[in-house]
Amino acid sequence: MKNNNFINCSALSKKELENRIEPRKVLLCSPKYFQVIDAKNVHMGSNIGKTNPTKAYQQWESLKAAYLKLKSRGLIDEIIEIDPIEGCEDMVFTANQSFPWQNTHGGKIVVLSKMYHSSRAREVPYFETLYKNLGYSTTSLKNAQYFEGMGDTIPHPHKRLLYGGYGHRTTLDAYHELSDLLETPILTLELKEEKFYHLDTCFLPINQDHLFICKEAFSNESIEHLSNFFKEITIIPIEEASQFFALNAHVVPSTNEEKSVAIIQEGANDTIQLLNKNNIEVIKLNTSEYIQSGGSVFCMKMMLY
Ligand code: ARG
Repeated sequence: MKNNNFINCSALSKKELENRIEPRKVLLCSPKYFQVIDAKNVHMGSNIGKTNPTKAYQQWESLKAAYLKLKSRGLIDEIIEIDPIEGCEDMVFTANQSFPWQNTHGGKIVVLSKMYHSSRAREVPYFETLYKNLGYSTTSLKNAQYFEGMGDTIPHPHKRLLYGGYGHRTTLDAYHELSDLLETPILTLELKEEKFYHLDTCFLPINQDHLFICKEAFSNESIEHLSNFFKEITIIPIEEASQFFALNAHVVPSTNEEKSVAIIQEGANDTIQLLNKNNIEVIKLNTSEYIQSGGSVFCMKMMLY
């Protein structure tokens, strides 16, 4: 492939990609020690010391209850919790410390993150232990500077293709190594706007063919590349993406019996309407305490194999 945004992409279109089975277990971490103590991203600066622990706990319990409901409906298999650690104030955001994957023979592998902020790097060894106990082979990138797991690296639904955001937290050098290690092609996407410091704040595939994005987060060239892999791209207004973290929703894929369900911040009304229009059931939650820290639903969970 000539263009260096495509790493190990022998295929330029979705038709040629290998299929993949979506993970069905959810990893959560109680917000026991959650607080905003510094400004790791632009959303946090005005919120230092302002989160309410009781409210944060209630909001997290509602998220857990939503996943339990989806489990009872057969949309997910299991909810796993990692113990919160005192002094790891952002550990509730379980999307960032790792990137779990399955090789083509079904073996479980996880790439541990190299976090940009040293305070968050402290979280990673606890996740390493958890993955070892779950039977994953664990590894980390040798040469890359920074890599923030599922916060910046998002799989194409049901396909072996990854989208890799870089520019704020993860560095571009992560993706060559990651692609070789996981034997999976990657389309890299430069993130331009600091409000959208992780790919999961501005990029939401709702199914194999349809992507929701906030266009201000990306270069025009990136958006053109994306149209190789998605038949339809819907633009979500920047206000909704930045104030309500609309694109940080979690779309749980459908089963034979049930349609897809999106868990999303309440108030993201345009996005909610568009999800409904696309035959996706919506569960609205309030994650306001976590939005003060720059995260919402997608960041507060990791999907595990
Ligand atoms: N305060 C956390 C940080 O800045 C929020 C992380 C949110 N995670 C995400 N995947 N967007 O690291």
